[in-house]
Amino acid sequence: MDSTVVIIPTYNERENLERIVARVRGAAPSVEVLVVDDNSPDGTGAIADRLAAEDDAVHVLHRTGKEGLGAAYKAGFAWALGRGFGNVVEMDADGSHAPEQLPALLAATAEADVVLGSRWVPGGTVVNWPKHREAISRVGSAYARFALRLPARDVTGGYRVFSADALRRLQLDEVHSHGYGFQVDMLWHANRAGLRIVEVPITFTERTLGASKMTSGIVVEAMLRVTWWGVCELTDRIIGRHPAAATASGSVVER
Ligand code: GDD
Ligand code: MN
Repeated sequence: MDSTVVIIPTYNERENLERIVARVRGAAPSVEVLVVDDNSPDGTGAIADRLAAEDDAVHVLHRTGKEGLGAAYKAGFAWALGRGFGNVVEMDADGSHAPEQLPALLAATAEADVVLGSRWVPGGTVVNWPKHREAISRVGSAYARFALRLPARDVTGGYRVFSADALRRLQLDEVHSHGYGFQVDMLWHANRAGLRIVEVPITFTERTLGASKMTSGIVVEAMLRVTWWGVCELTDRIIGRHPAAATASGSVVER
């Protein structure tokens, strides 16, 4: 199988980082890890350095300050492509994405360029989310899916696998979102590039340690961006650009 690196962006994840890295290395021993830390004030970067010193398969990219999830991932993608990895995984540091489900996501790369860990397909679920957070995520996902004609149910999730080839083809330099809108933006570009997208059900478990960096401002910003992109998507379809994009509903891989 292709070589794989899991990118874990961190901002103040001192209580979570060691555990998540150990779980990834245990669940998928051939998979390497890249921590992308935005100079966390809580010292997460120093923990990442220690983990990298203890294990040759663990790497760290230090950035100078907090620039958002999207900027961290783009830096990580460039690092991974420069090193020739065949698959690149996105995973949160807080334990919400179970490393034990990574083999199922990687298996799905046999038939897809982009694999989405999905909460909103049969078999997918969320544990310990307050009802209002689930409602926001479901409505946001449905809205973005409709506005951008995306072939997936969970379009905002952050547990994904991209083949290196997919990252090269989806025009990363046109993905400008820095916050959470980044995940929708990536999927939109992947679909416009004609990439094959599949969803694999996951169990998303809300963090027990540390704090989420999600704010209502970030949600509103993402919705406004989606609305603007939706206008662009509609005009592009009317004038016949991006014929490669899929409009039918996507496929789901059974676990
Ligand atoms: N380097 C860096 N810089 N990392 C960041 C930044 C940043 O500015 N902001 C957040 N992160 C890291 C966090 O440390 C964590 O590892 C991951 O990004 C996700 O942040 P959370 O704050 O835990 O996100 P969430 O639980 O609210 O959001 C989850 O759901 C979203 C909506 O479905 C994630 O899975 C998101 O990826 C997803 O879009
Ligand atoms: Mn989280």
